[in-house]
Amino acid sequence: MTYIIGIETSCDETAASVTKNGREVLSNVVYSQIDIHEKYGGVVPEIASRKHIDKIDAVVKASMKEADITCDDLSAVAVTNTPGLVGALLVGVNYAKGFAYAAKKPLVAVNHIEGHIAANYITNPEIEPPFVCLVASGGHSHILHMKSFHEFDILGRTTDDAAGEAFDKVARVLGLGYPGGPKLSRLAKEGRDDAIAFPRPRHGLDFSFSGVKTAVINYVHNAQQSGKEINKADVAASFQKSVTDVLVRNTIEAAEAVNSKIICMAGGVSANELLRSSMAQAAQARGMKLFMPEISLCTDNAAMISMAGYLNFMAGIRSPLNLNAVAQLTL
Ligand code: KG4
Ligand code: ZN
Repeated sequence: MTYIIGIETSCDETAASVTKNGREVLSNVVYSQIDIHEKYGGVVPEIASRKHIDKIDAVVKASMKEADITCDDLSAVAVTNTPGLVGALLVGVNYAKGFAYAAKKPLVAVNHIEGHIAANYITNPEIEPPFVCLVASGGHSHILHMKSFHEFDILGRTTDDAAGEAFDKVARVLGLGYPGGPKLSRLAKEGRDDAIAFPRPRHGLDFSFSGVKTAVINYVHNAQQSGKEINKADVAASFQKSVTDVLVRNTIEAAEAVNSKIICMAGGVSANELLRSSMAQAAQARGMKLFMPEISLCTDNAAMISMAGYLNFMAGIRSPLNLNAVAQLTL
């Protein structure tokens, strides 16, 4: 039996989770700081670090209690050490080091992006590489060809904004607040997605979302200047449709390019209902199989870190007690 505790503090969620043999989640505790950052319109890094310090001990203890195991039962302590806000990451990394040292268990570093991908293995335990995975979060937009659990090629990446970042910025322009993705997609349900023709840029398999974002900002500003009322729901629906169309188009083309019949999705944006249904339709039309994490495992959580930590642990990966947090690590 391999029990791993995963600890995640890369952004504004303080999270800890215990898994058994990777795919079985025994506890998944997430303390979200959204309420705190909401009034500033985005994550304030210094506040995030301080809140992590306040909450981490209680969150980790709650995850151990809920899993009903002792430190002795653990095989390893896994922690996100990159990428993310460096001050926020440091809280988790230092806590994990102390925990691992005191419990005399190995420390295993996890890349947050690999964690997002690993969320798929929890929801759909039968998945095994190779497959093509769209990773779309607040900081990353990648299409990866996962060749094994630890080897991948990057087929496409964003040349500017990440998909989630575009959702957040457009939501802010529409006055919806933070985090923009869920709020914008809720409003989009009341609008027409063909109301406004926003661009669907093509750069091979790479993404570029800053043009769509600028088109929305210009649309809103032009309307304001000429005193015209805008239909926010139409703007939200049209924007969401253009981003979704590009994400689906490039992911399907990437799968075709490497002859893959299996597609996975990961990251906060993969919680988006339109993206989930559009990708499912497109995959089905081409005889491809689509797997997605359940919605609660798409956004930041520690179960995915524990799962990825399990894969690292089984591959013999161990991290030294002088492990550092790294804000930006390219995949
Ligand atoms: O993966 P995640 O929780 O954190 C990062 O690693 O960045 O992703 C957060 C991002 C935010 O930009 C948020 O607006 C977006 O995911 N997001 C969504 C939805 N839920 C979260 N975007 C679109 N639709 C959603 N339902
Ligand atoms: Zn994330």
